[in-house]
Amino acid sequence: MLTVGYESMPPNDEKLSDLRARKARAEAGGGAARVEAQHKRGKLTARERLELLVDEGTFHEIDSLVEHRCRDFDMDKNIIPGDGVVTGHGKIGGKPIYCFAQDFTVYGGSLGEMHGLKICKVLDMALKTGVPVIGLNDSGGARIQEGVASLGSYAEIFFRNVRASGVIPQISLIMGPCAGGAVYSPAITDFVVMVDKSSHMFITGPEVIKTVTNEIVSFEDLGGASTHSSKSGVSHFIAENDEDAINIARELISILPANNLQKPPSKKSKDDPNRLCDDLINIVPSDPSQPYDVKDVISSIVDDGAFLEVQSEWAPNIVIGYSHLNGNLVGVIANQPMFLAGCLDIDASNKAARFVRFCDAFNVPLLTLEDVPGFLPGASQEWGGIIRHGAKLLFAFSEATVPKLTVILRKAYGGAYDVMCSKHIRGDYNIAWPSAELAVMGADGAVQIIHKKRINSARNSEEERARLVDDYRDTFANPYRAAALGYIDDVINPNETRKKLCLALNMLMDKQENRPERKHGNIPL
Ligand code: HXC
Repeated sequence: MLTVGYESMPPNDEKLSDLRARKARAEAGGGAARVEAQHKRGKLTARERLELLVDEGTFHEIDSLVEHRCRDFDMDKNIIPGDGVVTGHGKIGGKPIYCFAQDFTVYGGSLGEMHGLKICKVLDMALKTGVPVIGLNDSGGARIQEGVASLGSYAEIFFRNVRASGVIPQISLIMGPCAGGAVYSPAITDFVVMVDKSSHMFITGPEVIKTVTNEIVSFEDLGGASTHSSKSGVSHFIAENDEDAINIARELISILPANNLQKPPSKKSKDDPNRLCDDLINIVPSDPSQPYDVKDVISSIVDDGAFLEVQSEWAPNIVIGYSHLNGNLVGVIANQPMFLAGCLDIDASNKAARFVRFCDAFNVPLLTLEDVPGFLPGASQEWGGIIRHGAKLLFAFSEATVPKLTVILRKAYGGAYDVMCSKHIRGDYNIAWPSAELAVMGADGAVQIIHKKRINSARNSEEERARLVDDYRDTFANPYRAAALGYIDDVINPNETRKKLCLALNMLMDKQENRPERKHGNIPL
C-alpha cells in the first residue's frame, strides 16, 4: 500500500507524532466509507492507481500537506491535507516520470485553487527535468465552493500543458468523470486513455443538454469511452478497467523518448532485418477494387509483427500506430482499403495529421503505407471543410523533418498521392511495388472525362470505352512513369519491403534537415 512515509518514524517524539498524524490524515483521503464506495464502482483509489502505475517502491509523493484556503460554505471545517490529488514522481520500467492522481473521495476529486497548483508544480518539474507526465483524472470538475480561484488554477494547468506540448510526452488517463472545461487539459495532452463504462468526458452534461436543446442522451452515449473512441476521436485508447488503462500508459512510456531532445529507445528483436515477406504478395489483391486489411501488411513488415494501434475505432479508413523496424521505433500511417476504400476524409486527415506531428516532435521516424483512391467525394465532406482538414495532413507531412519512408502498395491517385508523404513534400525514401498505380485518377473516371466525345460517338461505345480504359491503364496504372522521373526511388519486389525499409532507416537515423526559423507555422486548423 502506498503511504506518505510516516510509518518508519520513531514513535516517541511529540513533533514526530504530530507529523505522523498529519500524514495519516492525508493518506486517509475522504475516509473509509468513500473508499468503499469507490471500490464498489469497480474503481481503484488514487493511491492504488499510482501504486500500479509506477515500478514497485519508486513513488515519491510531494505536497501531501497542501491544504485548500477556502473559507466559504464552511469549507474551513473540512480540510483534508493533500486537497484531493496525490502528486509526485516515480519510475516506469526504470524511466522517471512525474504523475498526479485525483482522489474522488475528497470533494469528488474536484479541482480547487491548491489542488490545481499541486498539478501545476508537477507539470513544471516534468518540463524542467524533461520527463513525461501522466495524469490520472477522476474529478467532478471545478470545485464549486472555490469559484473563480478554481477556474484560475485550471487555466494555469492548460497553459502548462500547452507549454510542455512537443517537449515532453503527456498522457491522460480518464478514470471517472471529467466534465466541463476540465476536459481541455486531457484534450491538449498527447494521449487520452479512457476506462470503459466508468469514465465520461463532456463539456455539458445530459441535464444541461436536455434543458438547452431538448435532446435526451445518457451519460454513456454522450461521453463514454466508446463514444470518444469511435465518434469524436477524443480518446486514443479504450481500456477495460483501471489496471488496463495503467498498462497502456506504461507501454507508451516504454517506447517513447523522455523528451524532444532524445531519440526513442531502441528495442532488441531477433527478427532478421533481411527477412523476406513472401506473404505480402497474397495479402494485397492485384485487382485494385478488392479490399484487404492493411494491418496484415504492417504485421508482415515490422519487427515480430508487433503493432500498437492508436485510435483504432475512429476514422478506420486510416490506420496509425507504433512498430519497430530493426529495433527502431516508427510511427506507421497506412490507408485502410477495408473502410471507404481507404479514401482520405475529414476525420482520417485530422487523425493522421496529429499523429505525424507527435512523431515529428519526438523524433519518431514515419513509415507511410499508401493505397489511396483520393479524398472522399461528397457535399458533406466539402461543407465540413475537407479542404481545410486535408491540408492539415499535407502540412504535417511537409513540416516533419524526421526520417520519412513511403511505400506505395497499390493506388496513389490525385492530391492524395502528393499528401501521403510523397517525394515532393520531402519523403526520404519512396518506393513502390509493381502493383502501384500513380495517376491523377482511376482509369474509368479518367477515360470518361478525357474521351467523353469519342466514347459517345463510337459505333460500339462500350467496346471503345473498355479499349480506352485498357490503354490508360497501360500508360499510367503502373509505377514506371514516376520511377522514370525519380519521384520514387525504386520499384521493388514486395517480399523485399522489410529488408529495404530496415536498410533505408539505418541510413537515415542521423538525418539532419532544417526548416526556416520562425515563430510557428500557421497550420489550417
Ligand atoms: C465540489 C463536488 C463537485 C464539485 C462533486 N462534488 N463535484 N464538490 N465541486 N464540482 C462532491 C459532492 O458534493 C459529493 O460530496 C462528492 O463530491 C461526491 O459527489 P456525488 O455527487 O455524491 O457523486 P456521484 O453521484 O458519483 O456524481 C459525481 C458527479 C457529480 C457526476 C461528478 O458530483 C456532479 O455532477 N458534480 C458536478 C459536476 C460539475 O458540474 N462540475 C462543474 C463542471 S464545470 P459529499 O460531501 O456529498 O460526498 C467545470 C468548469 C471547469 O468544471 C472550467 C475550467 C476552465
